[in-house]
Amino acid sequence: MFAVHLMAFYFTKLKEDQIKKVDRFLYHMRLSDETLLDIMARFQAEMQKGLGKDTNPTASVKMLPTFVRAIPDGSENGEFLSLDLGGSKFRVLKVQVSEEGKRNVQMESQFYPTPNEIIRGNGTELFEYVADCLADFMKTKELMQKKLPLGLTFSFPCKQTKLDEGILLSWTKKFKARGVQGTDVVRSLTNAMKRHQQDLDVDILALVNDTVGTMMTCAYDDPYCEVGVIIGTGTNACYMEDMSNIDLVEGDEGRMCISTEWGAFGDDGALEDIRTEFDRELDLGSLNPGKQLFEKMISGLYLGELVRLILLKMAKAGLLFGGEKSSALHIKGKIETRHVAAMERYKEGLANTREILTDLGLEPSDADCIAVQHVCTIVSFRSANLCAAALAAILTRLRENKKLVRLRTTVGMDGTLYKIHPQYPKRLHKVVRKLVPNCDVRFLLSESGSTKGAAMVTAVASRVQAQRKQIDKVLALFQLTQEQLVGIQNKMRVEFECGLKKDTHPLATVKMLPTYVCGMPDGTEKGKFLALDLGGTNFRVLLVKIRSGRRSVRMYNKIFAIPLEIMQGTGEELFDHIVQCIADFLDYMGLKGAQLPLGFTFSFPCRQTSIDKGTLIEWTKGFKATDCEGEDVVDMLREAIKRRNEFDLDIVAVVNDTVGTMMTCGYEDRNCEVGLIAGTGSNMCYMEEMRNIELVEGDEGKMCINTEWGGFGDNGCLDDIQTQYDKEVDEGSLNPGKQRYEKMTSGMYLGEIVRQILIDLTKQGLLFRGQISERLRTRGIFETKFLSQIESDRLALLQVRRILQQLGLDSTCEDSIVVKEVCGAVSRRAAQLYGAGLAAIVEKRREDQGLEHMRITVGVDGTLYKLHPHFSRILQETVKELAPQCDVMFMLSEDGSGKGAALITAVAKRLQQAQREH
Ligand code: BG6
Ligand code: BG6
Ligand code: GLC
Ligand code: GLC
Repeated sequence: MFAVHLMAFYFTKLKEDQIKKVDRFLYHMRLSDETLLDIMARFQAEMQKGLGKDTNPTASVKMLPTFVRAIPDGSENGEFLSLDLGGSKFRVLKVQVSEEGKRNVQMESQFYPTPNEIIRGNGTELFEYVADCLADFMKTKELMQKKLPLGLTFSFPCKQTKLDEGILLSWTKKFKARGVQGTDVVRSLTNAMKRHQQDLDVDILALVNDTVGTMMTCAYDDPYCEVGVIIGTGTNACYMEDMSNIDLVEGDEGRMCISTEWGAFGDDGALEDIRTEFDRELDLGSLNPGKQLFEKMISGLYLGELVRLILLKMAKAGLLFGGEKSSALHIKGKIETRHVAAMERYKEGLANTREILTDLGLEPSDADCIAVQHVCTIVSFRSANLCAAALAAILTRLRENKKLVRLRTTVGMDGTLYKIHPQYPKRLHKVVRKLVPNCDVRFLLSESGSTKGAAMVTAVASRVQAQRKQIDKVLALFQLTQEQLVGIQNKMRVEFECGLKKDTHPLATVKMLPTYVCGMPDGTEKGKFLALDLGGTNFRVLLVKIRSGRRSVRMYNKIFAIPLEIMQGTGEELFDHIVQCIADFLDYMGLKGAQLPLGFTFSFPCRQTSIDKGTLIEWTKGFKATDCEGEDVVDMLREAIKRRNEFDLDIVAVVNDTVGTMMTCGYEDRNCEVGLIAGTGSNMCYMEEMRNIELVEGDEGKMCINTEWGGFGDNGCLDDIQTQYDKEVDEGSLNPGKQRYEKMTSGMYLGEIVRQILIDLTKQGLLFRGQISERLRTRGIFETKFLSQIESDRLALLQVRRILQQLGLDSTCEDSIVVKEVCGAVSRRAAQLYGAGLAAIVEKRREDQGLEHMRITVGVDGTLYKLHPHFSRILQETVKELAPQCDVMFMLSEDGSGKGAALITAVAKRLQQAQREH
């Protein structure tokens, strides 16, 4: 009895002594609660640094956005392939996520070896090897004929800008294949799979880190799971961060999973005070010295090695094995994490220790075994402590993001160290709970690795991809090939000729109206003129003072509103209103009773027989006043002036806005022989040889032709490019069947086309959560100015979203991207169509003049041209491509067409006087 007591006493004493000895020796490795709280605070600061746009480049903890935005909701389904590369084992899997809301996942998998010559050889060979394994798996499982989406779990730090891309930032752990860092691993693997062209019809839809896969796997079973932690070969954690805190990704609604890459914590020196000589030595002998310093204190790849280095040092100091060292103890990697785990086993631990040490060629005493076991405990405890501190920082961040006093959450866990080490989980949980007492944490072990989660991400990606295809299909309707554009150019050319010829003119859809404007201003014009500018966005009354010789013009103008009920009321009301505005203006200018010559810019198709006569053929755009079509608008204006009986005006000229614009620009540049409007409406005028104008007598000189090209296509010649949306816009317009080209190109209709597309996409469930709001049903919400703002490159997504919100459209950031794309497709087509039309006219002019090469200036006006960020560029590029022999200069009309109208009036007045004098 006494002997037993003595033994027990002896053993307790021995243990105490050994533990004290080791504790003293590894004093630096034992971290107090205070230190852990300090490390936790440091990691909180690191996370903030990694998330900030300006601070991220220098942050060692990279906080990588993963583009995984939501945890599984159970609606995921389908069959997927999955690769799991980067942990201790490489696996290929097939995952079947079951349908009908039953949370049921079936997996078949196969492990493949990852020999060092592959993972540390040439990058191309590594990916070819991975592709070979995949091909082998598919062959074995008879999956060859199937086209399956693939999710790639790739457990290394990757920079992602979307789900199916990952630029490897640096290899970590055991991998070091050449030529991969800085490149997209998804693309490399895709390329490698091409070698198996026939067998591998696989689309990599998602790249996920193992932490993300783990979090998603666990979240499939527990919706509270919003953190994923790996403590295996390497260590890392991910968690769901609020989008508003992620500077590196546009958008602020919802959350996105961030892979912290906490393994690199301390790489900037932030942990030097807690690193020991063993950590430094281990680092120097590693594949990536100076990198992953936190990971090297924690993860499975390094724990055994740390223990070995400590034992060696202690033996050298005579503190172990009687100062003896074996040669095996000198060999790197001889002690592995599984050994550490075995030595720390509760009951068999000491026996295991003895066996392991003996296997290393040592002859341990009882005391040695106790000491070595304690070394293991200190090293693995430190690992758990450090993980706990960083995890506590994440949990605190989550709690603060949610503005909660107490957080209830689940952490998904995986990794061999966590799984096989007997005490590790317990210790980790305990310390975390101590560090964050205000968090109720459930730790959930991922039984099935990260693949199930990766399959969830792939399932969502595959749904998104299918939706994307639907969207692309719609957008493709608006893409015109070069061939189509040439076709349109040619058709336009045919229409020009048709309109100019006497026999074909009556039926022509492009009316080619003579304007009786025969020359450009020559600089001798002078005097004071009134001008009206009706038909664009604004109705203006202007006073224009032209001084001769110096080509200088002074203008005063006032904008007046024309209420909708007047635009679409009776003709009399409309013209009375116009005269009322003139009266107001004269009053305002102090010109009451003045009798001034007047030029009338009237931006609608008019048949003219002289410069001061214009019979309205039909209203276009937003006008529909009764009793005007077929009437002379100059007469109507005169009568309205008479009715008012307050002043008299000499109406000298009626001009189309295109003509006014050409004149305005022609005053500065004599080469300006084309006038173009890209505004509410779409139209073009140009100087034509008299001999080509069969409707007007005489062959000498030139006359301006108002093409009224807006009517192009009214005979059905554009039906092949018309989309269902164009048809809907046409049907809802004031003039169905008319002005088809205008309806595909001008500001008044582009927004409407966009609206029709958005309604359709919403109906298909691809936008606005499938809800068609009242607002979206409202005609005309997308004015040109909004289209222009939305498409501005300088605008961040959030701003686009704000514009949509102002328009009453409650959109997510994803919606905003789609809306922007839709706007882009519609306005691009418009600009290209304009380009084709313009190319037709400049080429015609060049050929008519028998020139090899021609220089010409186009005077342009209109809000679409002026405000839209890309319209003018695309238009110009298209003209250049379609009319390469023409040097076309675009000149923006700064002063509107009122100035041109006044100049035309001045010229006409001069001619009138000359005629009278004869
Ligand atoms: C596995 C996961 O269970 O754990 C892998 O499926 C992960 O994706 C691995 O990388 C991490 O642990 P270890 O110990 O294998 O590195
Ligand atoms: C103005 C001209 O600058 O542009 C008008 O003065 C013309 O005559 C108008 O009709 C065209 O653009 P919008 O966009 O106002 O229709
Ligand atoms: C390494 C990798 C990281 C991974 C972790 C666990 O730290 O850099 O991406 O998540 O190991 O496998
Ligand atoms: C409409 C009109 C046309 C005008 C154009 C631009 O197409 O019919 O006359 O030039 O709009 O305002």
